[in-house]
Amino acid sequence: MPRILLWIFVLLKLFIASGQDFFQSQRAGDYAPSPHSVEYIVSLQTSKGQHFCVGSLVHKYWVLTAAHCNTRVDQMMIVAGDNILGKYEGMEQYSKPHSITLHPLYNKSTSNADIMLIKLRAPIKPNRYVSLAPLPKQNTGMLPGQLCQMSGWGSPPQGRSRSPLTLRSVTLPIISTAKCNSSKSINGSITSNMICAGSNTGGEKACKWDPGELLVCGGRLYGLASWGNICGDAGFPGVFTAVSRFRRWIDRTIYRSWTRCFKYRYPLSSKSSMSDG
Ligand SMILES: *[C@@H]1O[C@H](CO)[C@@H](O)[C@H](O)[C@H]1NC(C)=O
Ligand SMILES: *[C@@H]1O[C@H](CO)[C@@H](O)[C@H](O)[C@H]1NC(C)=O
Ligand SMILES: *[C@@H]1O[C@H](CO)[C@@H](O)[C@H](O)[C@H]1NC(C)=O
Repeated sequence: MPRILLWIFVLLKLFIASGQDFFQSQRAGDYAPSPHSVEYIVSLQTSKGQHFCVGSLVHKYWVLTAAHCNTRVDQMMIVAGDNILGKYEGMEQYSKPHSITLHPLYNKSTSNADIMLIKLRAPIKPNRYVSLAPLPKQNTGMLPGQLCQMSGWGSPPQGRSRSPLTLRSVTLPIISTAKCNSSKSINGSITSNMICAGSNTGGEKACKWDPGELLVCGGRLYGLASWGNICGDAGFPGVFTAVSRFRRWIDRTIYRSWTRCFKYRYPLSSKSSMSDG
């Protein structure tokens, strides 16, 4: 009997949740996740408060994002616990970067290894609204067709708006590397450090995305939006940095610098990182 009640409760919740999605988005696949349900997402902002990239909290002192979000440390502010950008809601935590570690293999022209870590000056405190991102294990992959959620604030099509933006998510399927890299699609530009996702039914949200937007599959952070045309037709999906290829690099960067009592040095020779991300 209690079990039946539980099911009724679950169904009711689902019904209410999908109703909300419908009214908020009017387009398939594009929805506002419940506030603070993507607790590890952070906004990278300029010192003037302009959002320009999405990151994720992987340690109370470290944020993971795309390498092409790299900008001067003294001109960047990290905001955690944010749901509506441009509106103070009381759960926000702010921290300035201390230093930036680009992946040693990052190549601007090919977008290979488009990943970096930002070390914070002051820790972000995990709480009900802020948590650490669950990362995949080294080299674990996703099956084509598996559905993932891309989350971020997106950017208005015409430049940056100053009006408040609510965090939004969209469901996207993983596209196989073979299909994505084929001459009918991205034609040879996909490296093993990238994964592709997207579809032609991705909703409006999929057309508006910011660098570093989070691709979460099965509850783990598998991708960081890097380049490509996520909203376009299925032949040209979005390309994401494959976080699982960099799990060891992330752990080593974070924990090596810790054991060195905060004295940070560029941690890896490109040779050792080449062998295992
Ligand atoms: C980036 O990749 C291109 C194309 O493979 C290559 O020619 C270039 O040397 C690379 N740049 C760096 C900095 O590794
Ligand atoms: C794909 O890339 C190859 C090699 O760069 C080029 O010769 C070919 O024309 C490209 N195909 C398409 C459809 O763009
Ligand atoms: C994508 O295609 C290019 C050109 O054929 C190839 O060099 C590269 O290894 C392929 N990428 C993957 C991940 O297989």
